[in-house]
Amino acid sequence: MVEHVIEQDMIAHLIEKAIQAREASYSPYSNYQVGAALLTEGGEIFTGCNIENAAYSPTNCAERTAFFKAVSEGKRKFSAIAIVGGTKNEEITQYAYPCGVCRQVMMEFCDPQTFQIIVAKSKNEYEIKTLLQLLPDGFGAANLS
Ligand code: THU
Repeated sequence: MVEHVIEQDMIAHLIEKAIQAREASYSPYSNYQVGAALLTEGGEIFTGCNIENAAYSPTNCAERTAFFKAVSEGKRKFSAIAIVGGTKNEEITQYAYPCGVCRQVMMEFCDPQTFQIIVAKSKNEYEIKTLLQLLPDGFGAANLS
């Protein structure tokens, strides 16, 4: 666990939003439902769910759905994301850490040292890591400048 730079109330709020967003998950192939709630530096929240596809590879993760919604609305600075994932109609027993592709998308728009990734089973059961912890030595825009 890292030091909580996001207030407790906001953590609970983001988790609640991620749980709600998960309800829209379109995942008929895996039955694994994921919801995410992304907090901008300005305090706005963009939610997302995973969206699967019969051809499999076009599937989009919940985290990227949230990021792409936000970026397409002109937002580029983010402080935190809450993620909730688990099999449909089952109790959530594991933390759904973001996949490698989603970590790389986070790397594009977030400061690895400060961006907080909140993985939750419920409003009271969660872990928080920075992007740096989940993607050490990540490749980003700075490498191309
Ligand atoms: N999934 C996410 O939404 N986020 C992740 O970080 C990992 C995986 C989705 C993709 C797919 O619809 C389902 O979970 C099973 O992989």
